[in-house]
Amino acid sequence: MSRVPILIASFLFLFQLPSSFAVAGESDSPTAYSLLQSYNFPVGILPKGVVAYDLDTSTGKFHAYFNDSCSFSLVGSYQLNYKSTITGYISENKLTKLSGIKVKVLFLWLNIVEVMRKGDEMEFSVGITSANFAIQEFLESPQCGCGFECKDSDSKLEMFGRNSFVSSS
Ligand SMILES: *[C@@H]1O[C@H](CO)[C@@H](O)[C@H](O)[C@H]1NC(C)=O
Repeated sequence: MSRVPILIASFLFLFQLPSSFAVAGESDSPTAYSLLQSYNFPVGILPKGVVAYDLDTSTGKFHAYFNDSCSFSLVGSYQLNYKSTITGYISENKLTKLSGIKVKVLFLWLNIVEVMRKGDEMEFSVGITSANFAIQEFLESPQCGCGFECKDSDSKLEMFGRNSFVSSS
């Protein structure tokens, strides 16, 4: 009886099929955000607005696409910039060889090349140095333009003023 192995093989093939295709953000397939979660990352390391992504599950290489580049401020005074295409390699608790994500440190824009989850902390590496943040900072995706400042006022474009922690309500 050679049928059973063939059935199993084709079942496995079907099961793996979606991961090797480019996936639109709004179909029934997992979104880039739920995919991040399946690798044990919080969704908040990716801003809202991913329109498509692709992932090679054998290597972990991915591309994520926004309609446009995306800037906002995060956790106090850090400013972040995401290009319209982000690439890198994903594995559990680990994003490596990232390109397309920059953070402004003092007067310099530095590439974030690695993001690691270490327990309840997220470690962002710019190569020469790294910074850790509590995972609670990343439970929600920031919005391009206003980051987390726009939760109560969607239409307001407030890029600055994160330091003041003034509620707009
Ligand atoms: C991206 O652009 C397309 C086409 O212009 C538009 O339909 C879609 O709503 C945009 N998506 C986002 C998240 O801005």
